[in-house]
Amino acid sequence: GPVICVVGARPNFMKMAPILRAFAAHSPAIPVVLVHTGQHYDRSMNDRLFEDLKLPHPDINLGVGSGSHTVQTAEVMRRFEPVLDDYRPSCVLVVGDVNSTLACSLVAVKKEIPVVHVEAGLRSYDRRMPEEINRVLTDQMADRLYTTERSAQVNLEAEGIDAARVCFVGNVMIDSLLHNRAMARPVAQTLAEAGIAADWLAPGSAYGVITLHRPSNVDQPETLQPLLATLARIAEHLPLIFAMHPRTRANIERFGLQELLPAARIAVLPPQGYLEMLGLMDGARLVLTDSGGLQEETTALGVPCLTLRENTERPITVEQGSNSLVGIVPASIEQAAQAVLAGAGKSGRMPELWDGQAAERIAADLYAWLSAAAATP
Ligand code: UD1
Repeated sequence: GPVICVVGARPNFMKMAPILRAFAAHSPAIPVVLVHTGQHYDRSMNDRLFEDLKLPHPDINLGVGSGSHTVQTAEVMRRFEPVLDDYRPSCVLVVGDVNSTLACSLVAVKKEIPVVHVEAGLRSYDRRMPEEINRVLTDQMADRLYTTERSAQVNLEAEGIDAARVCFVGNVMIDSLLHNRAMARPVAQTLAEAGIAADWLAPGSAYGVITLHRPSNVDQPETLQPLLATLARIAEHLPLIFAMHPRTRANIERFGLQELLPAARIAVLPPQGYLEMLGLMDGARLVLTDSGGLQEETTALGVPCLTLRENTERPITVEQGSNSLVGIVPASIEQAAQAVLAGAGKSGRMPELWDGQAAERIAADLYAWLSAAAATP
């Protein structure tokens, strides 16, 4: 049967695009059914990324939408099960750590269909993070695990996962970045499209980029308020472009914190397309974020990244890349930003196997693995 490839939320799309290309280019081609759970559905969170990444239209959209974690996960499971009955796939391939990743893995494993996890073994060791639960459980269910950095293999072994199931292939997200970098949208164009006046940023001047969406950072006013105030103080020295996740926008409005963001120094944009985001990051003096993906993308671009979290599941971005963990204490964030502006920003180097060929390695390995399984009586 085909490989069922699952996407659900924004950070899945840039990981799946190179995998689908590599499966089609493999000789012989690896047949695929693309399933979208519908976890993300907005034009800005979904459609624009599909267009930018030239992802094919999903064969099936489960249309689950938003809900509590339980409702969302359960709804994906309920709707995914009949898809497996219809297609009888050789395996289900999931990427990353979103609720859709966990839900589809759980359905597959209950039906004794092999689960393949791309971006396995990353651990923040923070169990309050919903993605950490998704990562640990998905890896426990997976039959084949592809990793992006060597620390992941160590994490998996510590959890009793047989090293023979694990394959270090590099980073498919960086495959996408390298493939699309030349097509990145110029910053001026992105600002203009968002309705920001042309004189907000003089051509060639330095700017920073912000993204913020982790529930632990944006769901409580006691945390969000000081974070925004800190960003506003940094913005006095460096104009900041804030690509705002819908969760963050909703909370800023709910808590009445809009006036903390001075429009003259902080340009608030809706969630951006892939090529826009790439252009914004590539030209930035500094990125401030709590995203997982941006830690890796800034490392690949050599742009200093300040991660507003206490931990990271992607330690290589700190050890070798341009990432620094600065936490959420205002004074530490401000100090770190000042240091970057004073010229002390990390540029780092490209981690091992982040070379644009990770998806090809997955295609080659998976084909061999599926062939061997088919040959076993
Ligand atoms: C999810 C992932 C997170 C990832 C993030 C990227 C999980 C547990 N979390 O978080 O790892 O970094 O995506 O965006 O899966 N919403 C919209 N439009 C959409 C989708 C969501 O407005 O298209 C709003 C809704 O109000 C929704 C909220 O965002 O309730 C949260 O969406 P959800 O899919 O639950 O998680 P994210 O916070 O986006």
